[in-house]
Amino acid sequence: MAFTIAIDGPAASGKGTISRLLAAEYGFAHLDTGLLYRAVGARMMEGVDPLEAAKALRAEALDGDALRTPEVAQAASKVAVIPEVRAALLDFQRAFARRSGGAVLDGRDIGTVICPEAEVKLFVTANAETRARRRHAELLERGIASDYAEVLADVQARDRRDMERSDAPLRPAPDAVRLDTTTMSIDEALAAARAVVDSRRA
Ligand code: DC
Repeated sequence: MAFTIAIDGPAASGKGTISRLLAAEYGFAHLDTGLLYRAVGARMMEGVDPLEAAKALRAEALDGDALRTPEVAQAASKVAVIPEVRAALLDFQRAFARRSGGAVLDGRDIGTVICPEAEVKLFVTANAETRARRRHAELLERGIASDYAEVLADVQARDRRDMERSDAPLRPAPDAVRLDTTTMSIDEALAAARAVVDSRRA
């Protein structure tokens, strides 16, 4: 049976971690839709037309580690403004969401555009400074040079671009449950998310 958990929110809000843990918990498949835009952004950086890259995208080509860099994040946010690129990535995401056995998708427009019928919708936020601190720590841990002030500026630029674009902007679906993780530990955020999922599965 299909059961879709849609998780949206800004960069480094904790939505990726929550999604991964929820998927493991319920035995659902997980799709980090940001990786699709990152893969297209990375191809654009190599000189490939973003629409051609989106049409040719294969899920097997998504190498999370190589795509999780600050430069690729900005490129992803830029190609994500192009309506035709978003349209080219739509069918794959919808098919993933309705696979049998359950699915967790995280991104910016899952609850609003990709899966408006999702059984569970969460909108995960945290203030920009907290998100920048988390992302900065994560980059250092992965051995990538990082400067906090730059990370904060990057996060804010991406927030602005993701929220102000006209096609599928970042915003909570009217029926999304909001989760502010600013002062929460991962365990607390996961417990809050599980409570929402369990109430919908009952
Ligand atoms: O979640 P992320 O930081 O990996 O996403 C990278 C960029 O991709 C983000 O700044 C905007 C874009 N994106 C989007 O427009 N829609 C999605 N569903 C997921 C990501």
